[in-house]
Amino acid sequence: MLILRSESASDIAAREALLDTAFGANRRAKTSERLRERRLAAEGLSFTAEIGGEFAATIRLWDIAAGPGCPALLLGPLAVAAHLRGQGIGCAMMRHALAEAAKLGHKAVLLVGDEPYYGRFGFRADVTERLWLPGPFERARLLGLEIEPGALQSARGMVSATGRFAPVPALGDLVRQVEMLAA
Ligand SMILES: CC(C)(COP(=O)(O)OP(=O)(O)OC[C@H]1O[C@@H](n2cnc3c(N)ncnc32)[C@H](O)[C@@H]1OP(=O)(O)O)[C@@H](O)C(=O)NCCC(=O)NCCS
Repeated sequence: MLILRSESASDIAAREALLDTAFGANRRAKTSERLRERRLAAEGLSFTAEIGGEFAATIRLWDIAAGPGCPALLLGPLAVAAHLRGQGIGCAMMRHALAEAAKLGHKAVLLVGDEPYYGRFGFRADVTERLWLPGPFERARLLGLEIEPGALQSARGMVSATGRFAPVPALGDLVRQVEMLAA
């Protein structure tokens, strides 16, 4: 049975392993990562899917501004474990995450992704045509969804991160992490 639930601290290792496999070791070079690095995901908007206790999928949303004065969320990364794809888990995660974002009062969501997939949830490229990302991006893959109609009408300029900063790890923790990696 598929369970969709809020992400917990114990999911982080499995989530990071899935993202490494799904997007490759270079995933942190993506421009959308510039809007997530050193930030916490938006409050209440990190989700995990599990099946029979197995980590199956991850999705998170991030606080951003779609240009000055236009608050929005950035969706991603979304990934489903390779052997569980094509069973509707990705769609279930998307619908759940977007419904929770709407419940929390968010009015618009951006993402960088394939329109043939995200179009089914209402994401379109025309609502982002006056926006830029802080790095290289394919314009046709910068998509937006207006949860509230017209919410992206004033979206223009550079997209920027507005989320809470992640706590800086203590030096001792960093040293331990490096030691573990080197071991
Ligand atoms: C994209 C992804 C999240 C979809 O998850 P999933 O659980 O397999 O998706 P679902 O089962 O809900 O939906 C499957 C449908 O999406 C379609 N689909 C999947 N990836 C697609 C893509 N990149 N472009 C267009 N359609 C896509 C499938 O063809 C299928 O279509 P159908 O319903 O008409 O048969 C999953 O393939 C994945 O994790 N991929 C690797 C990471 C990734 O690319 N993430 C998205 C970043 S843009």
